[in-house]
Amino acid sequence: MKPDSESMEPKTVEITVAGKAIQAREGETIIHALWQAGRGHDIQTGCVGGVCGACTVTLRFKDGRRGGTDLACLRPVEEGMEVFPFPVDALASPPPVSDPDEDKLRAEFPTVDRCTKCDNCTIACPMGIPVMDSVLRMQKGQLEAVAEDFTTCIHCGLCRAVCEDKVLPHTMGIWVRRSLGLSVDHPALDQTREATMSDQEEQEWEHLLNCDDQERLQRAKAFRKEGIIA
Ligand code: SF4
Ligand code: SF4
Ligand code: FES
Repeated sequence: MKPDSESMEPKTVEITVAGKAIQAREGETIIHALWQAGRGHDIQTGCVGGVCGACTVTLRFKDGRRGGTDLACLRPVEEGMEVFPFPVDALASPPPVSDPDEDKLRAEFPTVDRCTKCDNCTIACPMGIPVMDSVLRMQKGQLEAVAEDFTTCIHCGLCRAVCEDKVLPHTMGIWVRRSLGLSVDHPALDQTREATMSDQEEQEWEHLLNCDDQERLQRAKAFRKEGIIA
């Protein structure tokens, strides 16, 4: 790393991305450094905010510091960092089912019992989700807790990619969340909505759901101009 000079220039560090070196400003993210170097296509991106999971990478350090997996849009560069793009293939999720339990989960995902407790999935997760513990909870049918575990999952797929036993942890976690969501009592929700909606809100819903496209457009234009709902 170059020492900070008396000038106010930011420190620079050298990193390699897919084997090619670039200079980067200390503290900026890997993606930002790539953009500055005109190599934005080297790692795919989506949200550039740690939400979509598109920018997965593996990291290594020549000096023996621990590398691992991360999101290039969030990870600041460090001197000597070696970055390898690690796109994870999308995998279709099985449709959710009502009232899920461990038997239904096992029927859909026999892989759940393959877990060897290696913990690679937890180590790989950039969101700090206790993935392996959650797989063990799936085996015991503790599905509410599983849904809670995966609340912050960004679907990057890293836990799946590093699992040598092909257990599919996040695919199962998402299936559990969707299945529990599918089992919510919708009539009860409708009653709550009806009980709390004002007449004006009711009318607005009526218009939104039933008016024709032209009328909807006119109302949207009027709202933009006047700031009130006609
Ligand atoms: S990586 Fe796979 S085998 Fe290892 S703990 Fe996670 S789910 Fe289990
Ligand atoms: S649980 Fe898996 S898919 Fe979800 S954020 Fe963590 S590593 Fe990515
Ligand atoms: S680009 Fe979306 S998480 Fe990095």
